[in-house]
Parts: sequence; C-alpha cells; structure tokens
Amino acid sequence: MQQIIPETTSPFPSVLQTSVRKIGINPNHWYVVARSSEVTNKPLGVIIWKQAIALYRDHTGKVHALEDRCPHRQVQLSHGQVKGNQLECNYHGWRFNSNGECVAVPYLAANQKLPTCQIRHYPVKEQDGFIWLFPSDIEPSIEPMGLPEWEHLNYIATVSVINTQAHYSYLIENLMDMYHGHLHQDLQAWAEAALQNIDEDDNRVNAHYTAQSYYKIDKIWSISQLFFPALRRLHPEPLNVSYIYPHWVSTLGNDFKIYCLLCPVNETQTKAYLIHFTSLNAFWRLHKLPVWFRRFIKNSLFGAAQKLLDGLVIQDVKMIEEEQQAYLQNPEIRNYELNRALVSVQKLMKNQIEKLVMGNQID
Ligand code: FES
Ligand SMILES: [Fe+2]
Repeated sequence: MQQIIPETTSPFPSVLQTSVRKIGINPNHWYVVARSSEVTNKPLGVIIWKQAIALYRDHTGKVHALEDRCPHRQVQLSHGQVKGNQLECNYHGWRFNSNGECVAVPYLAANQKLPTCQIRHYPVKEQDGFIWLFPSDIEPSIEPMGLPEWEHLNYIATVSVINTQAHYSYLIENLMDMYHGHLHQDLQAWAEAALQNIDEDDNRVNAHYTAQSYYKIDKIWSISQLFFPALRRLHPEPLNVSYIYPHWVSTLGNDFKIYCLLCPVNETQTKAYLIHFTSLNAFWRLHKLPVWFRRFIKNSLFGAAQKLLDGLVIQDVKMIEEEQQAYLQNPEIRNYELNRALVSVQKLMKNQIEKLVMGNQID
C-alpha cells in the first residue's frame, strides 16, 4: 500500500498558505548568477528572483552588479557599455559608478546639477569560476559556499547549464530523490539507490543512500569509462546528496562530486549550473609530476563528462517541466511521495522563508 506524505505544515499562516511550488527565496544567501567567463567588459543582464541585474567587469577586471534599470527612462543598463569602471546607458549616455550613483550626463548644461538618482548595487564575488551574488538589502555576514575542487589539480570539471521552466523546488527535489536513477538508465549514471538515513539542521538536509555506481576511477585509463559505456561495471558505493540552502552537493563514492548552484528566476523559471568533478586522487604517481603538467592534464580533460551531464540534464528538465505544467493545470492534486528526504527538503525551503517572516534574517 502506498504511503501518503503530506506537504509540511507551518505555524506561520502566510507561509502555511503558500504552496512550496510558489515559495520565494531567502535572499540572505549567496546565489550563483553567472559563470566567470560570461562576464566581460560587455554588460550581461541576469535575473535572480524577479530582480533584473546588470553584471559588468571594469577595466581592472573587477566584477560589479547594478540594478538593470536606468533611472532616467527605465531602460535596461545591461544594453549599455562599460566605460572605465562605470556603466553607460545606451539611450542618452548617462553614466553610473559601481555604487549605482549617476556620475555623468553628456548634455548637462553649465547651470544644471547631476541628478541625485541612485540605483541599487549588490554585493558580488568572483570565486571558483562563478559569480556569486547576495540579493538581500542587508550586508552579507556569510561567505559563498565555494567549490574547492574548481582550482584543485586533482579534479577534472565539467559544467552543464540548466534552464528550466519550473519552480526551483522541483529541481531540488529531483536532485535529492536518487530513486529517479530509473529515468537515466540509458546513460548508466547510478542504480539501485536505497535511502539509509537523513540528518538535517536549519540550513541543510543530508540524505545518505547506498547505490551501485557504473564507474570506478582507479587507473588513469579508467577515465575513458566516461566516454565508453562498455567499460563500466556496477559496484556498490555510498551516494550522499545534500541540500545546502540554496545549493546542492553530491558525492558518489570517492570518484565523483557534483554541485548544482542555483539561480531561481521566478515561480516558474530556474537557472542553475551543474558542475561534475571527476577525482584523480587515486593516482598517487600523478601527484609527483610537475604542477604545470598536472594543470595541463586538468585543462585538457575539462568537459570530459559533458555528454553524460548534458544527457542527464535533458532528461531531468523534461520531467520537472511536466511536473510544473501538471501543477499549474491542477494545483489542488496532491502527490504520493515515498521518499522522506523530500519531506525534509520541503520543510527546509519553508523554514528559510519563515526565518524572514520572523525577522531572523541572518544565519
Ligand atoms: S534612459 Fe538611460 S540615459 Fe536616458
Ligand atoms: Fe537526474
């Protein structure tokens, strides 16, 4: 008989009445809004939870984040140009410094003062290959989660971008529910997941599964398993997945680590970056080689798991978009859920919003 697990309830009516499928984000965290390589001296427009932001790199290489709105006529500043360390609007050429203050108007008459209009600027950090942004109006007192493997010479990275027409809760639940290996059978990612236990606190849910992995990276040539399915052999490995609000991290045995860095756009759209790391830790001989050679290997193998990762994303996105559409058409229909990790995840999402309601804004 199927067990029915209801959506978590809340003591706070405003949150209780909000379905997790419409819930907002806690802005008092660092979100990932772009890859480092996407931000150049040509401004880039991004959206984090309904806030349009113009990212740009100044002449010294530093990244800035301004509200993507010219206060003169409300057009998008991200369609303008970078001039020195300022952002110039495309329409009439007003310029703004990195604090969002208007510092130049090209046609200002001698008897006119600069307008005192100011737009919002956001704390932003470039770290481990990504642009981390703090969308709150309070100053951050925490650091971005970071990806220590990004620069580490023992890890080969692959990046895949997720752009899905679905609420972020569907993506997080997909990532936390390892029983959906069924969906990826043709890609041979993992098999026979079984949830062992969960530990959780205010900011994270760790779900510990056992599973069968298709990959074993114990010889240097075994990296070719990423390309050639015939070389893969199922063997048991621990599979740990963690929702570390607002991001997700997973390890499969000692050989693989995957991050999903989130940028929720609105109630029905989510952008995220999936970063897969293959570990070279098992090759102790490799570690004795010169650093330049190890970096050459790391760089040469960048993207080794691209086909696998992109394939997983396509399959997952299709499912979560179907879930979103089904919800929009019939929001009153309840799911039948057997995985208690998903109950914990929904509770965490709601608790993060309750923290805001309670005014307890910083972790
Ligand atoms: S609209 Fe931006 S300068 Fe006029
Ligand atoms: Fe998946």
